[in-house]
Amino acid sequence: MLVSLQEMLQEAERNNFAIASINTPNQISLRAVIEAAEDTGMPVTINHAQTEESVVPIEIAVPLMLDYARKSTAAISVHVDHGFDFDHCMKAVRLGCTSIMYDCSRFPLEKNIEEVRRFVDIVKPLGIGVEAELGAMPNNMPSDVHGQETSDLSDLSVYFTDPKEAEVFCERSGCDVLTTSFGTVHGVYAGEPNLDIERIKKIKSLAGDVHLGMHGGSGTPFDQIQAAISAGIKKINYFTAIDTAPAPYLMKTIQESKNPVNFCNLANQAMEIIYERTVEVLNAFKNASHT
Ligand code: 13P
Repeated sequence: MLVSLQEMLQEAERNNFAIASINTPNQISLRAVIEAAEDTGMPVTINHAQTEESVVPIEIAVPLMLDYARKSTAAISVHVDHGFDFDHCMKAVRLGCTSIMYDCSRFPLEKNIEEVRRFVDIVKPLGIGVEAELGAMPNNMPSDVHGQETSDLSDLSVYFTDPKEAEVFCERSGCDVLTTSFGTVHGVYAGEPNLDIERIKKIKSLAGDVHLGMHGGSGTPFDQIQAAISAGIKKINYFTAIDTAPAPYLMKTIQESKNPVNFCNLANQAMEIIYERTVEVLNAFKNASHT
């Protein structure tokens, strides 16, 4: 069933778990993630990122995502991940997305607040949830995508969200979810992940009713993710580890086959692997630590 992100987040706050926010840029991922949500009983946010336009345009992806969400027995919201342009986000509104990340984190604080507020004032009356970002998410993606060029990862603290700025942002922007930076990386970590859990607690204490989001879930040990959930994170974006999981198995299937390999069989194998990996992730997000 199609459910708003805001509703899901309220349940996550009450029961101390996190909503997984997973990109589904093809029908294989879409089916696998929805099946994993149904089998674990966990609500899930399925995402289309603006950077995935070259893989599948939003006009094609979102109607399919909405259809799967409506037919599912699990609670599913349909979300735009990292919408950088106002026009792109407005297109998502017209297509029926239930929540949208309007990412203006590249701007100074004031402009970030003003842009997000302008968007919130338009879409809040329509019941659409808004995610914003403050601080910056460093990138280390397995493939070069425009807008996701590799960041300098030598000192992640330069990207961290300032709690005082987060307080001002939450008071004035009107967003439903604020994504914060405290040690995660989009894609692959360069060193050992070491999340600044105290920073999350501090931001949570200043955020009022705004829910906190974390991006770059892949590669983060589950015990650190669970500590982040307990500290206040209730929406976690998780993609690279799921999306790269099938490749080694598919390569083995291709190499070991004596005959030409049907793509539909590879797709089915990929779907199973994506399903299994997603189930693991959803189960980890269920159980917050009590530290
Ligand atoms: P990962 O690919 O590192 O899991 O991050 C996903 C993400 O944050 C998408 O916005």
